[in-house]
Amino acid sequence: MTISLSRRAFVAGGAALPIACAPMAAHLPLPSADAGPVNPLVRQRADAQVFRHDDGFYYLTGSVPEYDRLVLRRSKTIAGLATAEERVLWRHQASGPMSGFIWAPELHLIDGRWIMYFAAGPSGGGEDVFRIRTFAVVCDGPDPMAGNWTVLGQFQAPWDSFCLDSTSFVHRGTRYFAWAQREPGIETNSNLYIAPLASPLTLARPATRLSIPMLDWEVRGFKVNEAPAVLARNGRLFMTYSASATDARYCLGMLTAAEDADIMDPRAWTKAQMPVFVTSGETGVFGPGHNSFTVDEQGRDILVYHGRDYERIDGDPLFDPNRHTRVQRLYFKADGSPDFGVPVGNGPLPVRLLGPDGSALCCEEGRLFVGAAHLASTQFRMIEDAAGIVTIQPILRRDERVTVLPDGGIGLARNGASPAQRFIAHRSAEGTVSLESAARRSFALSASRTLALVPAPSATLWRVD
Ligand code: AHR
Repeated sequence: MTISLSRRAFVAGGAALPIACAPMAAHLPLPSADAGPVNPLVRQRADAQVFRHDDGFYYLTGSVPEYDRLVLRRSKTIAGLATAEERVLWRHQASGPMSGFIWAPELHLIDGRWIMYFAAGPSGGGEDVFRIRTFAVVCDGPDPMAGNWTVLGQFQAPWDSFCLDSTSFVHRGTRYFAWAQREPGIETNSNLYIAPLASPLTLARPATRLSIPMLDWEVRGFKVNEAPAVLARNGRLFMTYSASATDARYCLGMLTAAEDADIMDPRAWTKAQMPVFVTSGETGVFGPGHNSFTVDEQGRDILVYHGRDYERIDGDPLFDPNRHTRVQRLYFKADGSPDFGVPVGNGPLPVRLLGPDGSALCCEEGRLFVGAAHLASTQFRMIEDAAGIVTIQPILRRDERVTVLPDGGIGLARNGASPAQRFIAHRSAEGTVSLESAARRSFALSASRTLALVPAPSATLWRVD
């Protein structure tokens, strides 16, 4: 018998809740730690948070399919997280309010203590398993991978209601808490709230409600605003959040406030009327969301999120285990706001290839040119084989490759691994690359408005971004 609950429908009494068996996508080669990240970065880790600490390590935590434990892994590189050893910090209890689901952990260093926030509910089946509330565990030492973790307590939320997906950030010297919660009297599954912290589990003042799911893309399947994440850039605070059901309709929205505004005033925040990051059939990523932010080893902004590589889900999406951790570059628009583009899909991270005047190699509706276009049309995956030969794939046209055409022009053709699609990448320490044709040696792709094969090395240096 299925009881349909507020946001989570489930089979009542199922102590061992079913985990849907979904088709496993073809496994990509395991990335080496010195190579760049390959998506999916970590399989079956949803709600992923990557925390870059000043010890030089990246720490990754997230929800596990069994929802029964808190895990942590670390690496000196983002790519290395894929194969890093994972430690179980804490397991749900045998009974009580933290004996059932364990959701969406986040690691924070607060006043010198490692604290991990998470959402938890009781076990035992029935309606109670979704009595989700927010708790924290704390580490007894300086190394979160080696210390002992014990329960710090329950977050003292404004209401005794469905409460999850908390995050914390410091803004202008004050530490804030942002989270998702169901508010009595508002008929939604969860809304977004913010308040300064007095202590890790108590608020310094009454919370401000920042957003209620009301737009059509926020209420598909369930009325959800959850998983806030904050990025401070270019004189503003950008708070992304996730909306709708956790299937292919799941997506990111964004609130923006001026850095010097009173961020406890809801009027300081502007909600984007359209989602900023959604499912992409072209790249094969469905239900992208529950993001966090970090920077890569070169200090460049990185978006961390989860997404499946198939659309159809049998049963409740909450119990489909294949929300994998994914990462990609986060670029910015001319106005300084984040440009999320599209979820870039499985494989090595794509790059943009820029000519000396800043114009980009673009692919729009099957046409290759050098100029300007939406971000996703300027992203190309440089797929390199063991011999260092590169084929160049527009991320929106997975089955096609940049090809030297019979007339000597440059276009796209279905991936046939022909010499006309193979290039030798001559990379420089300055971050430029020349792409010599394997079919016509000593000729390379011109990095100019006129896309052609020209005698290397004249005008053939692309800046890789
Ligand atoms: O992944 C478990 C829960 O489902 C997360 O807390 C929430 O963000 C998601 O929708």
